[in-house]
Amino acid sequence: MTTRDQARRAATDLSTLLAAESRAGFTWQQRMWQIAACLCADATDDEAMRAARSRFEAVYPGLRDFRLSPRSEPSAHERLATLTARLHDLLHMPPVTLRRARAADAPRIAMIWHTGWRDGHLGNVPDELIAARTPDSFRARAAERVPDTTVAEVGDVVAGFVMVVADEVEQVYLDASFRGGGVADVLLTEAERLVATNGHGVAWLAVVPGNARARRFYERSGWKDDGGFDYVATGIHVPCRRYVKPVSR
Ligand SMILES: CC(C)(COP(=O)(O)OP(=O)(O)OC[C@H]1O[C@@H](n2cnc3c(N)ncnc32)[C@H](O)[C@@H]1OP(=O)(O)O)[C@@H](O)C(=O)NCCC(=O)NCCS
Repeated sequence: MTTRDQARRAATDLSTLLAAESRAGFTWQQRMWQIAACLCADATDDEAMRAARSRFEAVYPGLRDFRLSPRSEPSAHERLATLTARLHDLLHMPPVTLRRARAADAPRIAMIWHTGWRDGHLGNVPDELIAARTPDSFRARAAERVPDTTVAEVGDVVAGFVMVVADEVEQVYLDASFRGGGVADVLLTEAERLVATNGHGVAWLAVVPGNARARRFYERSGWKDDGGFDYVATGIHVPCRRYVKPVSR
């Protein structure tokens, strides 16, 4: 999913919210118009902005003379503010660029890897493995694995990375603040390209069954669950799902 797709989705979420809040009052409605105006001002040649604008226009005409209940207003405003900020961030996100990792990236990679690993694995892998995955272990592995690593930069910030060895996509990790913005799609597409360049027709990866977000992401990207197996990590058997995807140059 591209950043633009994500932006379109945020716009859809926003318009769904507006439709659900059709009992909106005047202040609320004005706020909507302000947002719509901001969107329209930027909209000249941006497809996602045009989509947002038409959705807003479809929602607004009927909004008159309604009031939000005092109880629901704060939470509605909060949700609207979150969605608007998200939409803004996505639409103004600098382009994602890819490059081979350098030794100087290792500390940032280790940090993203450590926090992302915990997000995807706590409660989903044996306690023994959690005990072995200390911050130092990520620092050491990130430094060792620089030659296998490609990083994605957003502006001049390393947002995430992927490691590819032969036909295996070993790690796909994003800093939490960049998740949901299409950066992972760029990294995974590059990983697939690298597997094909390595001379393989099918890429594979391992994911723990409980890592629902990663599984959903892989499935949305055309990867198929090819069954369960034990991945041996640091001598520890970890029940995993094997995902595969045909790749071509
Ligand atoms: C896995 C990862 C790279 C995916 O990148 P991302 O930007 O978060 O991916 P997206 O948001 O585009 O896609 C995630 C999908 O999971 C869905 N999702 C989010 N939270 C979810 C949850 N708790 N349960 C199920 N699905 C979830 C999202 O809605 C989205 O699906 P959709 O497009 O059908 O709506 C990123 O989340 C990450 O770095 N996670 C931590 C590290 C990790 O687990 N890496 C993989 C190791 S195998």
